[in-house]
Amino acid sequence: MADHITLQVARYRPEQQSDITFDEYEVPCPKEWVVLDGLNHIKDRLDGTLSYRWSCRMGICGSCGMNVNGEPKLTCATFLADYAPGPIRVEPLPNFPVIRDLIVDIGDFMQKLVRVKPWIMRQTEKPVSEGEYRQTPEELDEYKQFSMCINCMLCYAACPIYGLDPKFLGPAAIALAQRYNLDSRDEGASDRMAVLSEHEGIWGCTFVGECTKVCPKHVDPAGAIQRYKLTAALESMKAIFMPRGA
Ligand code: SF4
Ligand code: FES
Repeated sequence: MADHITLQVARYRPEQQSDITFDEYEVPCPKEWVVLDGLNHIKDRLDGTLSYRWSCRMGICGSCGMNVNGEPKLTCATFLADYAPGPIRVEPLPNFPVIRDLIVDIGDFMQKLVRVKPWIMRQTEKPVSEGEYRQTPEELDEYKQFSMCINCMLCYAACPIYGLDPKFLGPAAIALAQRYNLDSRDEGASDRMAVLSEHEGIWGCTFVGECTKVCPKHVDPAGAIQRYKLTAALESMKAIFMPRGA
């Protein structure tokens, strides 16, 4: 196996250039090194001006997402050796404005997460003296898969609908809404329905399914959206056929 590999890294310094360009760097390629190790090697030894995000280095914080040879990946979980003999092209996540080099603007994503009210809502709170809200393991299983999201935005980078229409609420936000809708302690599903049933909500999704393929945590946002579409359709039919208050 080659002991070095070439990284072709996207560079964008808005004060100097209007378009993205690429710089090439040779980095060591031991079998345990991930793409993020290569970027850190560049930053520490070859070119301190390179800008990118990372934090945990263990697939938890969700901050190191980038396009690696055209696919959205967590760079801390993507091994250099899997791309030998290279080169490997590293670019910022698509579908987001680039701020600098490999760093994208996550403002739109953060606003979308908040729009689906990702917290437990209650119509009435019971007094603290009555104790906590308990769940059975089966009730936990209902939403656990959707709670594994680390907000890495790989699903937005892979979603062709979001690429065409940035108003689309997008995979992770809808999966997060489902995480709370399916929580036995929550009573906020009807509040979330108002946002999710907009044209830019669930109905914007045409079930391409790329979001589920790229998700590093197996959240299955495409499945969450389809499941929610069924719920929304049943609710509309109930509203049409059931007498008010029945
Ligand atoms: S659903 Fe998956 S791909 Fe999308 S933000 Fe969450 S963890 Fe990342
Ligand atoms: S650095 Fe935290 S998920 Fe990659």
